[in-house]
Amino acid sequence: MCGIVGVLGNHEAAPLLVEALKRLEYRGYDSAGIATVNKGRLDRRRAVGKLVNLSDLLVHEPLAGKAGIGHTRWATHGAATVTNAHPHRAGPVAVVHNGIIENFRELREELATHGLVQESQTDTETVALLAQMYMSRGMTPVEAARATLGRLHGAFALCFLFDGHDDLMIAARKGSPLAIGHGKGEMFVGSDAIALAPMTDRITYLEEGDWAVITRSGAEIFDAEDRRANRAETRIQIDAARIEKGGYKHFMAKEIAEQPVVIADALKHYTTPEGGLRLPEGVDFKGVDRITMVACGTASYACHVAKYWFEQIAGLPAEIDIASEFRYREPPLSGQSWAVFVSQSGETADTLAALRYARDKVARIVSVVNVPTSSIARESDLSLPILAGVEVGVASTKAFTCQLTVLALMAVKAGLDRGRLTAEQAAAHLGSLRNLPGLMNHALGLSGVIAEVAEELAEAQDVLFLGRGAMYPLALEGALKLKEISYIHAEGYASGELKHGPIALIDARVPVIVLAPRDGLFDKTVSNMQEVMARHGKVLLISDAAGVEEAGAGVWKTLVLPEVEAAFAPILYAVPAQLLAYHTAIAKGTDVDQPRNLAKSVTVE
Ligand code: M6R
Repeated sequence: MCGIVGVLGNHEAAPLLVEALKRLEYRGYDSAGIATVNKGRLDRRRAVGKLVNLSDLLVHEPLAGKAGIGHTRWATHGAATVTNAHPHRAGPVAVVHNGIIENFRELREELATHGLVQESQTDTETVALLAQMYMSRGMTPVEAARATLGRLHGAFALCFLFDGHDDLMIAARKGSPLAIGHGKGEMFVGSDAIALAPMTDRITYLEEGDWAVITRSGAEIFDAEDRRANRAETRIQIDAARIEKGGYKHFMAKEIAEQPVVIADALKHYTTPEGGLRLPEGVDFKGVDRITMVACGTASYACHVAKYWFEQIAGLPAEIDIASEFRYREPPLSGQSWAVFVSQSGETADTLAALRYARDKVARIVSVVNVPTSSIARESDLSLPILAGVEVGVASTKAFTCQLTVLALMAVKAGLDRGRLTAEQAAAHLGSLRNLPGLMNHALGLSGVIAEVAEELAEAQDVLFLGRGAMYPLALEGALKLKEISYIHAEGYASGELKHGPIALIDARVPVIVLAPRDGLFDKTVSNMQEVMARHGKVLLISDAAGVEEAGAGVWKTLVLPEVEAAFAPILYAVPAQLLAYHTAIAKGTDVDQPRNLAKSVTVE
C-alpha cells in the first residue's frame, strides 16, 4: 500500500505534493517521488527511504511546475530502490499507483514483444508502458489511459500525468480508495482526504471502477462502463492540528497519553448525560442469532476481547476471523446474523474484501472504524465511529482502546436487547466504563517505572505475554506491540496453554509478562505463573494491589494498576502493555512511529 497525490494548481506543485505526502507517509515510507509538468516538460525526482530524503533532494535539484503527482511507497514488487520508486515514467507518461496489478507479468511479456522493456521490477511501470504504447499508436492521453485501465486486473488507485499537458491528470480507482479535491481553479487527487486537508475540504470519493479526467476547471467522472457518473461532493472536517506531535517526542507517546480523553469522548458520544446508552438506532440486537467479527492485527485482538463480552454479558454467540482468511474459508453465514468489521483506517484491503464477501449473506453489515469517511464505513449498513482522532503512529494504541470501548457499549446494548441484563446491571457496566479514563490516567503515571523495566526488557531475545479469559487477547496485543516497534520476538499465550508446548521456551533469559487482574481466573493464572518461575523464567506481574500482594513474592518485577471491573480490565491493562513496547523501542533506539517494513494502512491483500 502506498500513498498517492496529484495537484493541478496555481502555485508551485512540489511543496504541495511533499506536504500531502507527509500526511500519507503512514501508508509507506520505503521511497518517495514526485513528477511535475513545467512549461510542458515532464520531469521527476525520486529518493529511497523516508520523505525527508526526497525533500533534501529537491533542495539540490528543485522541480518547477504547477501540475504534479507524488507517491510514497510500501514495496510490493521490487526492493526499495530509486529505480523501483514512483512516479514511473515511460516516454510521455508518468504514473503513481497504490495496489497490485495482478496480470503485470503477462502484460510485461506482451510489451516486450513491442520492444517496450521495463527498467524496474514493479507492476506499476507496466501501466506507464502500456499507456505509452497506446499513445505511440496515435491515441490521446485520455484514450490511452482508458485503454490501459481496461487491460489491468487487480486492485489499484492510479494517477497519470502527461508530458506536454500541464492541465490534465487522469485518476482511476478499482479496489483502492481515491479522493478528488476541489479548489478554486485548482484540482487535487489523494489517497485520502487527510492528504488534501491543507489544500481543500471539498472532496469527491471515486467509487469502484470509476475513472476521472481532471483539469483545473473540474473533474469528469466515468463509471466502469464509461458512463458519465455523478458523484457527490462532500465537505470534510479534518482538524490539521491533530496531526501534530503536540510536544511529545513521538506520535505513539502522544496517542498513548490521549487515551483517557478520547475514551471519555467516545463514552460521552454514545451515552446520555444521565448515563444511559445512546447508540445509533440500528444497533438493536433483537432477533440477531450471532455476530461474526472480522479484522486484522490489533483490531482483530479488539474483536477477540469483545467476543468474551458479547458471549458473557449478552449471551450472544460471537465468532472471530482474521480478515485475510475469512472469505477464502467461505464460512457459512446466518441470514439472522450481523457481520461486524473493525478497522482503524477503514481501508484495510483484507477487511474490506471480507466485508464485500459478507454482503447479502447476513442481516446487517456493521463497522467500527476510526475514519468515518473510509471505504469500510461507507460500504457498511451501519457504521460506528470510535472517535479516537487521527492516529499516526504505525503501532495502533488509542484506536485499540476506543474500539474496545465502542464494542463494550455494543455488548451492553446486546445484553439489554436480549434480556440478559437488567437495567441496573447495564447501568453498573456503564458506570465501570465511565471510570476507565480516570483509571487510565493512573496507569499512565507508571510510565517512568515502565521505562526502567524496559531498559532490561530491551536486552531480551524473546518475550512471552500470558493472560487468561479476556486478558488472553490482550497478551496477543502486548506481544504484537512489542515485536512491531522493538523488533524483539514476542508471543502471547493463553496462560493455561503454556504447559502444552511453549513452556519449553522458558529459561532465565526469557521475560514473561503476566497480565493478571485479581479476577475469577486469578488463582489459575498465578498457578501458571508459578510454573514459569519454577523453570527460572523472569516474571513481570501486572496486577492490582491485592493481586501483587498475594502473588508478587519472588517475581522479577511488578506493576500495580488500580482495581477495575474484571470484564473491562483489558482496556486498562492495554496502557502498560503499550508503554512497555514504547519504552523498550526507545531503549533499543528503533524508529517508534515508522518501524521497519510496516505501514499504517495496509491497502493490499
Ligand atoms: O486500519 P486497521 O485497523 O484495519 O489495521 C489493521 C492492522 O493492520 C493494524 O492494527 C496493525 O496490526 C497495527 N500496526 C498494529 O499496531
